[in-house]
Amino acid sequence: MKETISFLVNNQQVTLLTEPDRPLLWVLRNDLRITSPKFGCGEGYCGACTVLIDGESVRSCQTEVGRIKGRRIITLEGLSQGDKLHPIQQAFLKHEAFQCGFCTSGMILEVLALLQKKAQPTRSEIIKALDDHLCRCGAHKRILMAVEEAAALMKGGQR
Ligand code: FES
Ligand code: FES
Repeated sequence: MKETISFLVNNQQVTLLTEPDRPLLWVLRNDLRITSPKFGCGEGYCGACTVLIDGESVRSCQTEVGRIKGRRIITLEGLSQGDKLHPIQQAFLKHEAFQCGFCTSGMILEVLALLQKKAQPTRSEIIKALDDHLCRCGAHKRILMAVEEAAALMKGGQR
């Protein structure tokens, strides 16, 4: 049975009448037209659908929308400020840390969650944080360099 469900997406209040057991990924992509979270495996393995919920990285394909009432969702669309990219986005661009880009949104949000908890992670901590994010293009090495650059940029005062 449908319910009225309200939550914040990228600081915008959203209210929907929908079945509470629908995956958040479908609600974001199909109802709200927020398309940065990608459908990869649909089973919680690849990380392409990752978003932040109250600052924690979450797989939106495995999250029922009824469980996020009143919570704060951040997607890639919420990171830039106008034309100014977030430092993590800048670093990914600088290091060309993607090829097809399918994994990139999930990677960047996982990195944001990591850097908000630990501003200067070691390389092994970065690898551990991204271990469950699959990149079929093999951009892993450039992703690691981008994360280290992003950490330095954010330490230098960029948000
Ligand atoms: S699509 Fe959600 S983890 Fe792969
Ligand atoms: S850049 Fe293609 S899957 Fe990672």
